[in-house]
Amino acid sequence: MDALLAELTAICGPEHVLTDPDVTAGYATDWTRRFRGLARCVIRPGHAAEVARALVACGRHGVAVVPQGGNTGLVGGGVPASENAVVLSARRLRRLGPVDTLSGQVTAGAGVTIAELRAHAARAGLEYGVDLAARDSATVGGTIATNAGGIQTIRYGPTRAQLLGLEAVLADGSVISRLGGIQAGNTGYDLTQLIAGSEGTLAVITAGSFRLWPAEPPTLTVLAGVPDIEAAAGLQAEIRSLVPAVRAAEYFEAAGLALVRAHTGLPAPLKRDYPAYLLADAAASDDDAEQLVVLAQLQDAVVAMDTQARARLWAYRERHTESISAEGIPHKLDVAVPLARIAAFRAELDSVIAKADARAIVFGHIGVGNLHVNVLGPAPDDDSVDDAVLRLAAEHGGTISAEHGIGRAKTAVLHLSRSAAEIAAMRAVKAAFDPAGLLNPGVLFAP
Ligand code: FAD
Ligand code: MLT
Ligand code: ZN
Repeated sequence: MDALLAELTAICGPEHVLTDPDVTAGYATDWTRRFRGLARCVIRPGHAAEVARALVACGRHGVAVVPQGGNTGLVGGGVPASENAVVLSARRLRRLGPVDTLSGQVTAGAGVTIAELRAHAARAGLEYGVDLAARDSATVGGTIATNAGGIQTIRYGPTRAQLLGLEAVLADGSVISRLGGIQAGNTGYDLTQLIAGSEGTLAVITAGSFRLWPAEPPTLTVLAGVPDIEAAAGLQAEIRSLVPAVRAAEYFEAAGLALVRAHTGLPAPLKRDYPAYLLADAAASDDDAEQLVVLAQLQDAVVAMDTQARARLWAYRERHTESISAEGIPHKLDVAVPLARIAAFRAELDSVIAKADARAIVFGHIGVGNLHVNVLGPAPDDDSVDDAVLRLAAEHGGTISAEHGIGRAKTAVLHLSRSAAEIAAMRAVKAAFDPAGLLNPGVLFAP
């Protein structure tokens, strides 16, 4: 056994240092299968002190560390590129504090899943503001590290907007902790918000404390067929003007629906087929609900009010990701453009995809202008279609990543969304936190 392995085994315990290639392969391949690496080993520390000692040991041996949570990330940020790296799985950091109903807050370990956090808050009559289809696997640590968005961004904002403080281990093994839950605080640099969205390049997150929201009245779901994306954008605006608490406004198209139906066996959602669909959730008073039903009657739409019927409608949207992956290894491009430009972007996207001799499945969180462009056809290592789509988003005043992050997938095009001065400042922050460049090298910045 090499010296580092022996030290890591002493720190984490032999059962939490994995070296069998059949086992480590699962930690070294991302959810999409597009990004595959090799891990020297996988460690699964059980608390922050073990994380700190492991980082010190890896630093002493000059070995890179790749933090990982649920491994549901879609940009290759949680898997190693080189076989020399240690994968640090935070999944055992599972402490879950009691819900503080006085201040509406909770503290959760990095390895707690979003479904667990949401259920914990719900039992206290409160709601955790982030929800996403990967809820059963995606973790507190991973969603902070990527500043995950999801289906409720339109209502509560992304993970960053829920985050009050965090505990994290820096590359030198020092632990910073701001889990006190004091919302009023103005004492210099906001390290919590700096580490949020840093994709494992600045620190290993071991816990977060979050604001919670009052639980909302029963939700109503509308699924409407529309002629195109412009109509979907218009309809979601109309719904938002009628109902104050729109909790989700999601978009998908005929091509995605066909894949979902083929993969799941679900029946057609409406009496006839449409080019595009809007799915919206609203917490509605009786008056709001009546207005929405009237609006739905003006469209070809279905309205669902009970939990099971709502879940049936949501399946058409939430099962897109797995249905696309069943067809092949997709190039997953997560862009956002101003809503006023979304129709023009969508129209030009078709010619970009045609030139690449590929097909695109487009869906996403239209209420916040976020579209997931999933391109099937090009080889996994061919980035030309990625570049073309991301450039198109930038030309329309958009961003090359709305919620998934940069990861390994988009380092070469970071300049499309960030200026040279911003990238230089970000690199300076990285150098200050991690001078030896051991935390997630190759993620966020091109090597
Ligand atoms: P991982 O995939 O393990 O890691 C992601 C990144 O975070 C990596 O860079 C990793 O190094 C870093 N990281 C992980 N844990 C830590 C830690 N403890 N400390 C420091 N860095 C860490 N994303 C959205 O934003 N919105 C969606 O609606 C959405 N829906 C999805 C639906 C499906 C079906 C799938 C498969 C994915 C979806 N995603 C979505 C993407 C993914 O779930 C999110 O990016 C999520 O935040 C990743 O969490 P994770 O715990 O799986 O992190
Ligand atoms: C979603 O909104 O479902 C996700 O971000 C996952 C995806 O892009 O496939
Ligand atoms: Zn999404």
